[in-house]
Amino acid sequence: MALREIIILPDKQLRLVSRPVEKVTAEIRKLANDMFETMYEAPGIGLAAIQVAQPLRLITMDIAKKNEDGETTPKPRVFINPEILSSSEEMSVYEEGCLSIPEYYEEVERPAKVRFRFTDLDGKVHEEDAEGLFATCIQHEIDHLNGVLFVDYLSKLKRDRVLKKFAKAAKRAAE
Ligand code: NI
Repeated sequence: MALREIIILPDKQLRLVSRPVEKVTAEIRKLANDMFETMYEAPGIGLAAIQVAQPLRLITMDIAKKNEDGETTPKPRVFINPEILSSSEEMSVYEEGCLSIPEYYEEVERPAKVRFRFTDLDGKVHEEDAEGLFATCIQHEIDHLNGVLFVDYLSKLKRDRVLKKFAKAAKRAAE
């Protein structure tokens, strides 16, 4: 496994529409392993391949919860070519963050439940229901595959403010 660099705003690659994974090859498995290592190290609970500059429809996720002893059992999941099949009318609000928009958190409203289809690392296709944090996370990550970021759901004022902040930081870093 190897750590990969996470690209951050205002990197234009974050706006790319990722292409489907045609076949689960050894290379795809290696990418998924690297993404897990990168995601855990960050640390984060979800990562889309485009965030490590690979425009492929592949997501890693681990939303394992802490148990009563404060210990966490990892629950790594890989979703290849994920597709939302249906969304609930009921909405829920979560405070979201993104490894590509470090140290910025805002509440976002999304459908509370979704049904989605995906391919696993063995090339098998599954359908699954998601609710709670899982539903928010899968929607956030699928958005990445379409070049959409959670700040796109904020008011224009808030969005412009965060985009400007990151553009300035990048400019400073380049000087
Ligand atoms: Ni994100």
